[in-house]
Amino acid sequence: MKTMLVTGGCGFIGSHLVDVLIDQGYQVIVLDDLSTGREYNLNDQAELIVGNITNSTLVNSIIKETDACFHLAAIASTQSSNQDWVGTHQVNLTGTINIFNVARRTGKRPIPVIYASSAAVYGNTEENLIDESYPKQPLTAYGADKLGCELHAKVAGNIDGVPTCGLRFFNVYGPRQDPSSPYSGVISIFANRILSNQSITIFGDGNQTRDFIFVSDVVRYLIAALNQATTEAPVFNVCTGERISIHELAQTAMNVAEQVVPILHQDPREGDIRYSIGNPKAAKDNFNITANITLQEGLSQLFKSF
Ligand code: NAD
Ligand code: UD1
Repeated sequence: MKTMLVTGGCGFIGSHLVDVLIDQGYQVIVLDDLSTGREYNLNDQAELIVGNITNSTLVNSIIKETDACFHLAAIASTQSSNQDWVGTHQVNLTGTINIFNVARRTGKRPIPVIYASSAAVYGNTEENLIDESYPKQPLTAYGADKLGCELHAKVAGNIDGVPTCGLRFFNVYGPRQDPSSPYSGVISIFANRILSNQSITIFGDGNQTRDFIFVSDVVRYLIAALNQATTEAPVFNVCTGERISIHELAQTAMNVAEQVVPILHQDPREGDIRYSIGNPKAAKDNFNITANITLQEGLSQLFKSF
């Protein structure tokens, strides 16, 4: 039986990945510091090690026992990186370099690392679909560190022969995305507030757009990426190719929930991306996968999960 390490496996995306890996017969070890992840998210057949991805001695001792690593642990909020530049950098970039470094497993074959990058590497883009070669001009430290992860993945491949595959997730949503932090994903915040009949707040004019992808689709990409990891360090968009403005999202969510709440407006967030929509073609061609959950279906599943 193969053993997978999932960093951040108590978090939103990681916990769904762990469920599917266990269903597929893998043994799963999770490394998570429980900073935003929750133990109750975690499948009880997974082994949990509570610790920090920046602790190289700890990560080294765990990785020895594993056949591949899904590296999802990060401080996932663009706004947190505005508040705590150095702290988020230590986790999001130094922590990732630590994973690549121990994946070398000196004396043994390196293990493949599938890691979470982000659409935030592009920064502001045109309103059109963007493919992987689009210029990278991150607006936040979070986006800059995710781009740094991609650059260091190249180094891991070139110098140390570590096979990697980076996935540039666009905006992921679904059950277990924690709505309690103001910096959590917008859909989890809107859904939670609509269901509890509280007002929602739109930052800026609400015409900024996002490409929202449901978490079960993202997990399919993650597992397929195991066969894509090479020392060339490929990177793929993980997105739907559909856009919606935050204003339209608020209306759609209220329609699906059949509940209307007041919409308040506040100033735009620092470093907020205006338009974000990805071209899913490269992943489709290489993985033979496309996202198949529509926003309506995904919102409906999310509302049922509360
Ligand atoms: P999440 O906050 O739910 O999960 C992150 C997990 O990592 C949590 O369980 C947290 O406790 C853990 N963690 C954080 N710092 C750690 C550390 N130093 N050591 C060990 N564990 C640590 O976030 P998520 O939305 O599931 O994000 C997963 C990954 O996907 C992240 O790398 C994030 O940057 C990336 N991503 C997410 C989205 C999205 O829309 N949710 C989009 C693009 C990229
Ligand atoms: C999100 C992810 C980030 C990922 C990036 C990829 C989270 C917390 N962040 O960042 O990890 O790398 O996508 O594209 O999952 N908004 C409101 N009202 C609210 C909350 C948000 O109007 O109450 C707006 C924001 O200003 C922004 C949009 O909704 O314009 C999306 O915000 P958010 O869900 O925080 O995600 P991103 O910043 O796009």
